[in-house]
Amino acid sequence: MKNPFTYSNIVTGPYFCNRKKEQEDLLEFIRSSQNVLLYSHRRTGKSSLIKQLFLNIKQQAPEIGTLYIDLYGTTSEKEFMSRIFQQLNVLETNTDKLINLLKSSIDKFSFQIGIDPNTNSPTITPTFNSADENLVLKNLMELLEKFSAKRKIVIALDEFQEVAKYTDADSFEKRLRSYVQHHSNICYIFSGSQQHLLTVMFHSQGRAFYQQAASYPLKQIETKHYIPWMKQLFDEGNLSIEKANLIKIVDQFKNHPMYIQLFCFFLWRELQHTPWKEEMINGIERSMIDQKHLEYQTLWDNLSINQKKTLKLILINDGQNLFAAQTLITVSIKTASVVTRCLKTLLEKEVLVKNGRYIIQDLLFKKWLILNT
Ligand SMILES: Nc1ncnc2c1ncn2[C@@H]1O[C@H](COP(=O)(O)OP(=O)(O)OP(=O)(O)O)[C@@H](O)[C@H]1O
Ligand SMILES: [Mg+2]
Repeated sequence: MKNPFTYSNIVTGPYFCNRKKEQEDLLEFIRSSQNVLLYSHRRTGKSSLIKQLFLNIKQQAPEIGTLYIDLYGTTSEKEFMSRIFQQLNVLETNTDKLINLLKSSIDKFSFQIGIDPNTNSPTITPTFNSADENLVLKNLMELLEKFSAKRKIVIALDEFQEVAKYTDADSFEKRLRSYVQHHSNICYIFSGSQQHLLTVMFHSQGRAFYQQAASYPLKQIETKHYIPWMKQLFDEGNLSIEKANLIKIVDQFKNHPMYIQLFCFFLWRELQHTPWKEEMINGIERSMIDQKHLEYQTLWDNLSINQKKTLKLILINDGQNLFAAQTLITVSIKTASVVTRCLKTLLEKEVLVKNGRYIIQDLLFKKWLILNT
């Protein structure tokens, strides 16, 4: 049997653990066309949740149209629009109808139609050469509105924080919002992980998307939900592991889905030839850290000396009380302003997140730091 645990891709179906409440909540937002801001620390399961929800909608509420747009890597308004055009075939699978709709909705710019060899469905590529971007956006947004006249649509814009990095982001956000707020039969899910960027976009007065969506921070999956899910996958492989040990694994990785998947992936492999032993927990964790050694070493080498000291300060003080003179002496930092500056940069680099106290975002990097610095 194939190892059922997977840690690098979006997971759905039996490989997706619970999140029933989150799916119910999101479905309620969708039904009432309430836009949502879905955010969390990195690799907490936002994209998987959206994909799983959309699969369920396809099966249980096919009257709702779903459109998933991954904005990762886009650097301009043009690329933003191209990503949406590429996915339009999901809303209209009939090629002729899609082409007719495009022809009747789009003026003053051209587009190419191709066929995706994997799905055999049409792909639309707008030609921007001399086209006015404002006009293309207007056409695209009107097109989406047309789709939504026939049925309710939910559009997930994943990695939405990328928009804030475009040149002219301010103007684009404003124009985008002016359409989004009139789409009364469309629910937009804005999703992303760079919390400082995303929350600034939605929570700062003066920004176009200020209060344009209900905030939905995605929390970790609860232990009581992990246990039956993990048990079932191990059982299906005829691998025996007690509930108490599963709880220890979830605890060890602070309920973080990606690390739990990664751990279980290795554990599954070991259990093929050796029965469960307590020492496996630390043994596997150690090989997970070793696997990341080069990546973490590069990250560490690229930090300034004061950023390194600040990280040590966080480890020593558990992310709290970082400015007291007495504390600064322990890591030989001269002034609190140095710490303030370094914290800001480390937050921007997403090495740290702030949640009351400062936390090293990547749990495994924290464990690596403890072992290696
Ligand atoms: N509900 C879940 N059940 C089991 N594993 C999950 C679940 N959600 C996420 N994971 C695990 O976590 C990993 C990261 O999930 P995903 O890519 O959905 O997170 P994300 O929050 O979108 O990440 P990013 O911040 O990089 O966009 C997946 O590859 C999978 O291993
Ligand atoms: Mg994601």
